[in-house]
Amino acid sequence: MLWFPIDRHSTTSLVQQVYTNIRTLILSEQLKEHEKLPSTRELAHSIGTSRNTVTDAYEQLILEGYLLVRPRSGTYVAAGVVLKAAETEKRESDLADWLQTEQHDSRQFIDFRASHPAMDHFPRKVWGRLAKEVCYDSADELFGYRTPFGDETLRRVLATYLARTRGVACHPEQIVITAGATQGLALITQLLLKEGEHVAVEDPVTDEMRHIFSNAGANVYPVKADDQGIIPEKLSHHEKPSFVFVIPSHQFPLGAVLPIQRRIQLVEYVRQMNSYIVEDDYDSEFTYEGTAVYSMQGLDSKRVIYVGTFSKILSPALRIGYVILPYQLIDPFKELKWFSDRHTATLEQQIMARFIEEGHLDQHVRRMKRIYEGRRKALVAALKKSFPDLKIIGHAAGMHVVVEWKQLEVDQAFVDHCKQHQVIVYPVEQYALQKGYHTKQMVLGYGSLTEADIRIGVDRLHEAVSIFKQTTAPF
Ligand SMILES: Cc1ncc(COP(=O)(O)O)c(C=O)c1O
Repeated sequence: MLWFPIDRHSTTSLVQQVYTNIRTLILSEQLKEHEKLPSTRELAHSIGTSRNTVTDAYEQLILEGYLLVRPRSGTYVAAGVVLKAAETEKRESDLADWLQTEQHDSRQFIDFRASHPAMDHFPRKVWGRLAKEVCYDSADELFGYRTPFGDETLRRVLATYLARTRGVACHPEQIVITAGATQGLALITQLLLKEGEHVAVEDPVTDEMRHIFSNAGANVYPVKADDQGIIPEKLSHHEKPSFVFVIPSHQFPLGAVLPIQRRIQLVEYVRQMNSYIVEDDYDSEFTYEGTAVYSMQGLDSKRVIYVGTFSKILSPALRIGYVILPYQLIDPFKELKWFSDRHTATLEQQIMARFIEEGHLDQHVRRMKRIYEGRRKALVAALKKSFPDLKIIGHAAGMHVVVEWKQLEVDQAFVDHCKQHQVIVYPVEQYALQKGYHTKQMVLGYGSLTEADIRIGVDRLHEAVSIFKQTTAPF
């Protein structure tokens, strides 16, 4: 006999109480799949309510799929209504373990991970003030759905900012604000990828970029990069790429600045192949030698799609990036963005617009440039002191350096050995699609490390290398 208590003094209705009790019994598997329930008359009698109360509760449970009626037989618990408890628990504990390991790692290890900005220097005070202002000042419409293009003010100030700092030639209507460069690149791939075509990608490249393209269905075609960046002669002249992906202002990871001759060659290539260049310009505000390198987009705004982000310049937590499109791609891109996530968070965009308009972005970039330059100098000085033979590769910009050993192979054994000395380094070979060209090179990111941590990290690396030399022969 089925029974549960009913509270006549509760503010919860009787129907709701019957419904909740039965639902809980089903979810805790005290009432099992295919089990028959008592008739409405029997249950009403046993719990002391009217038959209508039970009928209403049964009907709600039938509507939601927990119960089903078999004609001339009765009411049963439906199949497939319980999510197995063990699975949920396991997933939760896996996640907890993962989070714990991450926290544990970041306390104990010096992690030379690239592309992580200085989180300790986020301009919290100004951002917080602007956030409050935006929240109080904004018209009611701003709290509704907005256009997929993104906030109008942000696009306007961004167009001016990018023209001034990056030589980008665009009208605000060509800009779409995205959830970081990542979303921009994923949507571009969806938009441009045609059957039978590939995406030409400079090699090496970050594994994340490569995955963005392949997850969107692309066949990735590696195009070798040397100390000047992508080599245009290595592009396919037989098969058309949907687009060519490049980071011309500071190649990742090699740090090359693509010379104008190669830029022109690339533009001529995509014109001839009726294709596009996708330019990722993620960290080139931070240049420590010479002047800032201008974007490729300024060369041909019909063939170059420019992708930018605030992840490095400010913080990846904001998830604000942007894509600058040739006119013919604006409408189809806008549609993809709308059906992907409607639009990027409006209030954050408004805060960003004010942040730029009031001059805080320029100020922040100037300040961060000094900080990153200091970190870079500390890293290079410590490396030169500990390893006089080590070659530093690439343009002095961004938040990482690439170094090349004379003899040492930066393989998994070496990386594991470094971990034992509480220092994490990244082989360039890990980013290479065509293997075997970068085996002696490694990436050292310094963006999120203080100068003191950098020095400790290099000391640990020195210790690790000395022991590695003794244990591996010949060296
Ligand atoms: C080459 C490159 N471009 C862009 C980004 C920025 O991505 P997002 O704007 O989605 O944070 C990254 C992130 O690490 C990157 O490595």
